[in-house]
Amino acid sequence: MSTTNQLVVVPDAGRTLPPLPALPQSRHLATQIPGPRSQAMMVERRAQVSNGFGAQLPVFIDRADGGILLDVDGNRIIDLASGLGPTALGASNGRVRERLQAQLDRFTHTCFMTTEYQSYVEVCRWLNQHAPGSAEKRTALFSTGAEANENAVKIARYFTGRSKILAFDGAYHGRTHMTMSLTSKAHPYKTGFGPFSKDVVHVPVPTSPRGAADTLERSLDRVRAALWENDPATFAAMIIEPILGEAGCLIPQEGFLAGLREIADEHGMLLIADEVQSGMGRTGRIWAIEHEDVVPDLLVAAKALANGMPLSSVTGRADVMNAVHPAGLGGTYAGNPLSCEAALAVFEQLDAEGVLDKATELGRIAVDMLLPLVGAGQGVIDVRVRGAMIGIEFGDEDTLEPASQRAKAVSAYCHSNGVLALTNGVHENVIRLLPPIVIEPTLFRDGLQVIIDGIQETALNVTEAKADAGGR
Ligand SMILES: Cc1ncc(COP(=O)(O)O)c(C=O)c1O
Repeated sequence: MSTTNQLVVVPDAGRTLPPLPALPQSRHLATQIPGPRSQAMMVERRAQVSNGFGAQLPVFIDRADGGILLDVDGNRIIDLASGLGPTALGASNGRVRERLQAQLDRFTHTCFMTTEYQSYVEVCRWLNQHAPGSAEKRTALFSTGAEANENAVKIARYFTGRSKILAFDGAYHGRTHMTMSLTSKAHPYKTGFGPFSKDVVHVPVPTSPRGAADTLERSLDRVRAALWENDPATFAAMIIEPILGEAGCLIPQEGFLAGLREIADEHGMLLIADEVQSGMGRTGRIWAIEHEDVVPDLLVAAKALANGMPLSSVTGRADVMNAVHPAGLGGTYAGNPLSCEAALAVFEQLDAEGVLDKATELGRIAVDMLLPLVGAGQGVIDVRVRGAMIGIEFGDEDTLEPASQRAKAVSAYCHSNGVLALTNGVHENVIRLLPPIVIEPTLFRDGLQVIIDGIQETALNVTEAKADAGGR
């Protein structure tokens, strides 16, 4: 099949299209994965698209609905990634579609810095009401998670008159220049892209299975030491993901975030919670930081905020958010009206339909099915679950030495069996799952069973390889 010079033609342009019939919510393999059409399109992709963009699963998607991705070869793949988190309410959510269609007929853009529209204000109102803490709040909207984190840093610097930022090992905050500096992992995010900000200091986050051996006090002492070594009075803020997604869904030691809150107060710094991945219901609460009962000064959201439409936000105490001079914040597309409508559709559903309970239920299923694998002789050294945010870590069960090849092998098994499961982690040794919260439990169980089968199959291969090596 040649795809050269083909333009996508929108059928029946000019009239409102009825919704497509729902996709069957079951896994189905029509071809091998990737199938022949995806493979041909991949050739063209390589000929046209910068090599700098990776692809975890090189299939081209025709439609997506609920927990299913339908590829161009007719394969129905179980979606355990939600497009890296955003499509938490399903990639073709009915209410999002209705609001987008109505807005498309009215206008697609005016620029909120030029002329106003009410949906922007309503999104800010909901975020002000739902962000943790009772203080009066204000919100500013942007487009991407990285852009919102950049702006959170700008606001913190402006408010405190200080420049340094404390960030954490394993953190991922984005790919722009400041957020690359905040991100800790060098490859693939930073290699070759420096220089980075000298005003960022990284410290370890205590998590299982490796880092939590220390007492909470010792973990917090490391933070205090890093501040003292770099003069605490020069720090504007510390920024942390309440669950470190890119690091493999690492959950900080209990009490660590509360300890950071105290340290920040002690030194007049702000605490920024990056909830780009963990927020908007994914963990069974609207914000992951609510599990720890900690109130940040600034809270950053994106991804599931508008269910896949580009929208991000910074919400914080009114005195902090209002400190910046008018026109100091903004952006041409910041708070785009279509994205705002999508966010309002998300809020309606979060407020009304037990979405948080669904995320909690997915977490229960994951605990039941995956936790028995830890230390069971198959190289699974940790399973971390908070609602629909799940990490399965691979390594040597005695030494905890990371096993990135195992994570890759399990992920490859999943892909060829019609399940999209992502690999990540500080040592690339984690399978991370971010299923749509609305995935049907039976489909989710089927996806997890494929992962378990993959773990067993690849564990057998490792045992055989070890036996072979021993025999030579
Ligand atoms: C915690 C966190 N912060 C920031 C970002 C960056 O968001 P974006 O890709 O929208 O710039 C991500 C993206 O994965 C993230 O997970």
